Amino acid sequence: MFQIQSNIDVHSAAFKKNQSGYRALLDQFHSRMEQVHRGGPESAIKKHKSRNKLLARERIDLLVDRNTPFLELSSFAAWDQYRNQFPAAGIVTGIGLLHNRETVIIANDATVKGGTYIEETIKKHIRAQEIALENHIPIVYMVDSGGVFLPEQDKVFPDKYDFGRIFFNQSRLSAEGIPQVAIVMGSCTAGGAYVPAMSDEAIIVRNQGTIFIGGPPLVKAATGEDVSAEELGGADVHTRISGVADHLAENDTHAIQICRNIFEQMNPPLKQELSMEPIEPPACDPAELYGLIPVDPKKPIDPREIIMRLVDGSKFQEFKQHYAPTIVTGFARIMGYPVGIIANNGVLFSETSLKATHFIELCNFRKTPILFLQNITGFIVGKEYEHKGIAKDGAKLVHAVSTASVPKFTVIIGGSYGAGNYAMAGRAFDPRLLFMWPNARISVMGGEQAAEVLSRVKIDQLKAAGEEVPKEEIRKIKEGILHKYADESSAWYSTSRLWDDGIIDPVDTRKVVAMGIAMSLNKPYPDPRTGVYRM
Ligand code: COA
Repeated sequence: MFQIQSNIDVHSAAFKKNQSGYRALLDQFHSRMEQVHRGGPESAIKKHKSRNKLLARERIDLLVDRNTPFLELSSFAAWDQYRNQFPAAGIVTGIGLLHNRETVIIANDATVKGGTYIEETIKKHIRAQEIALENHIPIVYMVDSGGVFLPEQDKVFPDKYDFGRIFFNQSRLSAEGIPQVAIVMGSCTAGGAYVPAMSDEAIIVRNQGTIFIGGPPLVKAATGEDVSAEELGGADVHTRISGVADHLAENDTHAIQICRNIFEQMNPPLKQELSMEPIEPPACDPAELYGLIPVDPKKPIDPREIIMRLVDGSKFQEFKQHYAPTIVTGFARIMGYPVGIIANNGVLFSETSLKATHFIELCNFRKTPILFLQNITGFIVGKEYEHKGIAKDGAKLVHAVSTASVPKFTVIIGGSYGAGNYAMAGRAFDPRLLFMWPNARISVMGGEQAAEVLSRVKIDQLKAAGEEVPKEEIRKIKEGILHKYADESSAWYSTSRLWDDGIIDPVDTRKVVAMGIAMSLNKPYPDPRTGVYRM
């Protein structure tokens, strides 16, 4: 495979300017990460520790294999919402190794409003379960939660993807033969009681874990009975009397050790095989990405410059290099894994769509996972292109992306707008993981275009009614839309609402994609199967 060469002058003023702009974005990213990793308020952390309990992230550190990475998901869920009272939405989720087996970990953070669930907490929990289901990997639940956050009941209780979905998913995961182990390390109330009850095995910590459908205040209100939490549903009750839990642990560390022992006994899964090569770092320094990525999303960037800083040895076997240049397709390796890459290099035309569709078919038949690098304003518009059938060619690409039989991974490295988001494996197209770079932006169209469309609609309405067009009103419409889109299209807005699996530092992209491919191997890739392509 050829090593591709850079055309960028890393000593140029433009490169240096970009680099310093990007470093400012990264500083913000790291300081916000530190903030959410601290968890709840100091007083809650103190109370938690005084009970001899470990913090959620400390528990995860002890659970995963030593010196192995933990890929945390959606660290900024609920960011800038609820007056930032729910760091990480009060739950830590991610993928780690347990006895060398990729495992989804879901840990409540009891320092954040008693580990209770708001809308984003549920979304995060359900997304983690979905990852386990798609990739056929086990789950460990580290439970320490007061159930739903009661003031938000209308947003967390009744709907299809609300709290109940967690237990529905547990049953489906179990039916698929996916192991689930719960460690009850604190409260486990109301519906939450089903988390351990529906797991394959449950561990509970003495004088600390409790499981009950209704807590002591509810029992008192309903029946008048006075009962302590421990008597009602403590570790002794559940491991000796009720059988709701299976293993009695003396403390957090002991409980985690029992969980690791359970994993040690499991049979390894049947894996998809991929041809591996020794890992090679990129020949071009990944840190140069900071100087390349235009902080101004309107400035174009040749995606090959990005690719050569992500892939092993900067080697890239480009496919159809000279055809349909607004999309770049080709094969490479990331941390030794083979990968097909599809990256935008301008708007999507008919021939661009056909080239990417052809490439997806190659990946399907070669059982090679696909990495989408999104930086897309959308499909080409205009009479000429409509007449040539851009809609049917775009449809072919959307179809190919939807039915791809190999795992897809998406990283939004620039803009993600309109149907371009769909054609490049946006969230609705089930990429196994989807991450944003801190500079990324996502919305149905750019703010300026939206402002233009809406003011044009207004002007046409007024003209049709034979009325004057008030310039000031039109200016206000435009300004309002521009402002709204600027705010809502930021990566922070997206990640807060779980439209993605998190924001990552661009230099970590290699590691993140490699972990994604590793986890995807736990479920053999099916043979290709597509539907009807409109010709
Ligand atoms: N809904 C909304 N807020 C809740 C809550 C709930 N279900 N459970 C706890 N909280 C809030 C508390 O009001 C408190 O908020 P504050 O920090 O702003 O004062 C914070 O979470 C911590 O609660 P606190 O009771 O001080 O902490 P704790 O560690 O001693 O106990 C629980 C935590 C979860 C065991 C305990 O609060 C509890 O039993 N809550 C009720 C659980 C319940 O009945 N849930 C039913 C859900 S269907």
